[in-house]
This record gives sequence, C-alpha cells and structure tokens, in this order.
Amino acid sequence: MEFVSQIKNLTPYVAGTPIEVVAKAYGLERVVKLASNESPLPPFPEVLEAIIEKFDSLNRYPDAEARDLRAALADRYEVEPNQVILGNGSCELLIWLSLIFLEPGTEAVFSDPTFLVYEEVTLARGAKAVKVPLKDFANDLESLAVAVNERTRVVFLTNPHNPTGSYLSAAAIAGFAAGLPESCALVLDEAYNEYVEEPDSQGGLNLRRSNDNVILLRTFSKIYGLCGLRIGYGLCSPRVKEAIDKVRQPFNINMLAQAAALKALGLSDRLEERRRLNSEGRRQLYEGFDSLGMGYVRTQSNFMLVKIDQLGVPAASVPEELLRRGVIVRNCGAWGWPEYMRVSVGAEKENEFLLEKLAELK
Ligand SMILES: Cc1ncc(COP(=O)(O)O)c(C=O)c1O
Repeated sequence: MEFVSQIKNLTPYVAGTPIEVVAKAYGLERVVKLASNESPLPPFPEVLEAIIEKFDSLNRYPDAEARDLRAALADRYEVEPNQVILGNGSCELLIWLSLIFLEPGTEAVFSDPTFLVYEEVTLARGAKAVKVPLKDFANDLESLAVAVNERTRVVFLTNPHNPTGSYLSAAAIAGFAAGLPESCALVLDEAYNEYVEEPDSQGGLNLRRSNDNVILLRTFSKIYGLCGLRIGYGLCSPRVKEAIDKVRQPFNINMLAQAAALKALGLSDRLEERRRLNSEGRRQLYEGFDSLGMGYVRTQSNFMLVKIDQLGVPAASVPEELLRRGVIVRNCGAWGWPEYMRVSVGAEKENEFLLEKLAELK
C-alpha cells in the first residue's frame, strides 16, 4: 500500500478536548469549555422539535439537493437556489472548494496564522500554501494582494479573523477583491459574521452579489448553536455550485441537519438577543482582564486572545493550569504566540469561572 505523496506534508487537526474527557482525566465536577468558539447556548427548542420529528424517517436518504433549505437560504439572501451550496459544516465546503480549484502547480493564499483547515485542504491537493503574516493581529490585505500571482486559484480570508477576532471593513475587502485576477476565487469565510457589531457587517453579501469570483461561507455552527450537527452554507455563482455538485458526495447533508437548519433559519429574528448576550460577555471579560492586569486583543467575534505572560506561573503552563482547574482554553503556542491564549466568550457564569481561576494564578 502506498499513500499519495501529500500525506507526508499533513498533520491531523487538533480539536479542543471534550468536556467529559477533561472531567474524567482530572476528576472534576465542573468543567467549562472555552476552547472551540462554540455558543454557550443550546439550539432553540423548536429546532430540537424539528430534529425529533425526523427520527421516524431515518430509514430514508435525505434530499440530496436539500431543496427546502436551499430555497429558504436563497429567499433570505435574495439569490437564486442555484447559488447556494451546503456542507457538513463549512469545513466540508472548504474541502469541496479545494477539489474544484486546487491541484499540483496551483497556489492558495491565506493569512498566517488563520483557520488551520485552509492549509490542510491546500496541502491535501498537492497545491502550494502561500502564507502571509498578520499585521497588528489582522489580515494584511496589502501583503495578501502582493502574494497573489498567475498560479493563485484561491484566497481564503476569514472575517472576523480566527484566531484573533479582528475585523476588516466591507470597503477594505471589496477593494482587495477588485484587485484579484479573473483566475482567482476569493473564499470569504464569515463563520462568525452574526457576532459582528459593526454597521457594515453585511457588506460581504453585496460583494458576493456583485462579484462572481467571490464565495461567501457561513455556518449554523456558531450563533445558532448547532455545531454538533454539522451544517454550513455558502453563496456562490451557479458555476461554482455546478462544479461542486460534480465532486461532493450526494447525501452530504443529513436529514436531521437539513430539518434543524431550516427551522433555525426561520427563527433568526432571535439572533439579535444572542448577539447582545455575546457582546455583554465580551465586556464582562474585558473588564475582568482589565482588573487582573491582563492585556487582550479587542474582538468582533465570540472569542478573543488574552495575554497570559503577567501571571504567577509561566505563560506556557497557563492553559494546563486552567485545565486542571476545570477550564479548557486554546493554547496559542502553535500560532507563534506563546504569551497568549484564546478563550471563547461563554455564558456569564462560565466567564466568571474563568476569571476566578485566572485570579488563582495571579
Ligand atoms: C474561520 C472558521 N471557518 C469555518 C469554521 C468551521 O465551521 P463549521 O463548524 O461550519 O465547519 C470555523 C470553526 O471554528 C472557523 O473558525
């Protein structure tokens, strides 16, 4: 047996440790997970009912075209259904996009650091990953533009940026998109869009509508609280959907996810409340970090970078010390920032718990 040569260039994605695993390993009663940018709130009750209603039909395959959900998304965003793509999480859409755009000899451009899956899908295709350092914790559009050449087939750009939470204006991104060559797609990944508190937060939609090379990705994983079910979506030109339909597995969106996402979309007037709670959580954390004398990067998302080099223990051991006390956070060492950790904005009590445990490390 011989693997394709790309396998040796890849490393498995390291996800946040599940709560139950940490509770068992450290013998803890209470564990708070603030490591994976998840929503602290469960799915809406009506969404759970919609899932349960489908249980009896699970002997049937789901609608391979997810017609109802695609029609509802098309309606919501004033596009045609043939401009809507769905993935088993937006992560899966990144795989489909790499299959249609990348091959050996081509290049993908993205920030460094950024969401790790961009690099994984690029290298898995045998394409070259061109990584551009951030500037002041934000995507550096000028340098990204310089990195694009005639071999570049795709730029992956997350806004707000993960892992920093920094935000670029719609005008800045539109300017960047305008400068890309015809042969290059822009994948604008807005996984955290619904948490943004800026007036131009829906600018990516206009850019998508006016630019065929732009593919806009969003997800039900974050503010809708459905990451356990795995469903994300994209808005794109019909050409992109047609190409993806040739490479994707036919039933990639399971029946429960289709029903849940359709119901959740119909309840999106309730997202305002969730956005407000997240903003309050951000403020609670900013104030808590201020009073502990810890620095942080201001965020437009549901997570933030916090400086951990002024505590009573070395920065490198802070994530482990927190884990032993029942708080799971994200270590930033792999991103080249050993003096930071990334924390999700939790529910009020979870944020309090984190701040209490940090105070113990002072
Ligand atoms: C920037 C970014 N894009 C996409 C995703 C994947 O989301 P999904 O759960 O829809 O696969 C994440 C998840 O953390 C993310 O941070």
